[in-house]
Amino acid sequence: MKRILHIVGARPNFMKMAPIIHEMARYPNEFEQILVHTGQHYDANMSQVFFEELEMPWPDVNLEVGSGSHAQQTALIMQRFEPVVLDYKPDWVLVPGDVNSTVACALVASKLGVKVAHVEAGLRSFDRTMPEEINRVVTDHLADLLFTTEPSGNDNLRNEGIPPEKICFVGNTMIDTLVRLLPKAEARWPGLQERFGLERYVLVTLHRPSNVDDLATLNEIMTALIEIGRQIPVIFPVHPRTRQRIASLDLGQSTERLILVEPMGYLDFLALEAHASLVLTDSGGVQEETTYLGVPCLTARSNTERPVTIRQGTNRLVASRAADLVKAAQEALAMGGATAAVKLELWDGYAAARVTARLLQ
Ligand code: UD1
Ligand code: UDP
Repeated sequence: MKRILHIVGARPNFMKMAPIIHEMARYPNEFEQILVHTGQHYDANMSQVFFEELEMPWPDVNLEVGSGSHAQQTALIMQRFEPVVLDYKPDWVLVPGDVNSTVACALVASKLGVKVAHVEAGLRSFDRTMPEEINRVVTDHLADLLFTTEPSGNDNLRNEGIPPEKICFVGNTMIDTLVRLLPKAEARWPGLQERFGLERYVLVTLHRPSNVDDLATLNEIMTALIEIGRQIPVIFPVHPRTRQRIASLDLGQSTERLILVEPMGYLDFLALEAHASLVLTDSGGVQEETTYLGVPCLTARSNTERPVTIRQGTNRLVASRAADLVKAAQEALAMGGATAAVKLELWDGYAAARVTARLLQ
């Protein structure tokens, strides 16, 4: 029997870990599972809704760290997680993605001599101004087992000297969640369409500090959205970080054309992604989901750690300037909506089964 301690903390972690938790539950004689929520995200629509919709067990432990500066948040997670590891003495700690909870828990476990597995290892933007890049690099170099989602991840890890036997290319567990829940999401589409009066529309998400913390950049993006909103409805579920920043811009009545809503549950958001004419985002996960769905995606960033979404998928990078965003959106919309999606290697709904098989060994 292996005791596995799963970490979740921020919104994208739930979609990555839910399928692994479900898959391991099929082997009750092999795995004992403990779920730790760091509390990095805590609003009901950034956390609780995903437990319900993704049918995840309620966390065994909630560290309730809340928000803070990077150092404060990372340190508090470490302080509160250390006794949990000492208490449960797990065989493995599984950490997903690239958020502060990921690196904090990896650091605690590895210093206590507990093996760490990183789900979504090897991604690199090669941009150290991005906090997530630092989290990725540190976590990968601490991990004993590195589960990669795309070939670039394998190459990056080998280039950094990670021994090949630690690298395990499993595919994308976030896509496992999408594959499982797309039918449920589709069932919600007629209701959403009616609620927002949607036919053709652009779906927007934004929360990268490089876009929303700098008010001049955020102003450029909002100006673009208002302009795009004159031509086609724009629906924008606003991340809490972004909500605070938008409030400090003086946009007057001009945002009335935009459909600004609270962060959405996974099923509604997925339905809106699947039916969008275009998605404009800076989210890592949304670049991947739109690629899987074949929905055109503009990523308001100068780089991406997910190059497969550009090479084989529907994603395109665009500078966060009003004129560039409007032009790119017009071009994308002129080309029509969703295309036949390209099936990426191992993005097939079975990544969690491969993670589980490796941990059964
Ligand atoms: C975090 C991750 C980012 C990830 C994103 C997913 C880090 C460094 N960043 O960014 O990689 O893409 O989550 O959404 O780990 N807030 C609330 N309610 C909440 C959570 C946050 O109001 O439930 C507000 C707080 O004011 C907080 C701010 O949002 O200060 C930012 O939250 P934080 O977790 O620090 O970073 P994110 O921008 O959410
Ligand atoms: N998502 C959601 N509701 C929203 C916006 C996004 O459920 O209002 C989902 C999205 O489908 C994806 C995940 O959240 O599964 C991506 O998380 P986020 O963009 O917060 O983080 P990132 O992927 O950039 O780290």
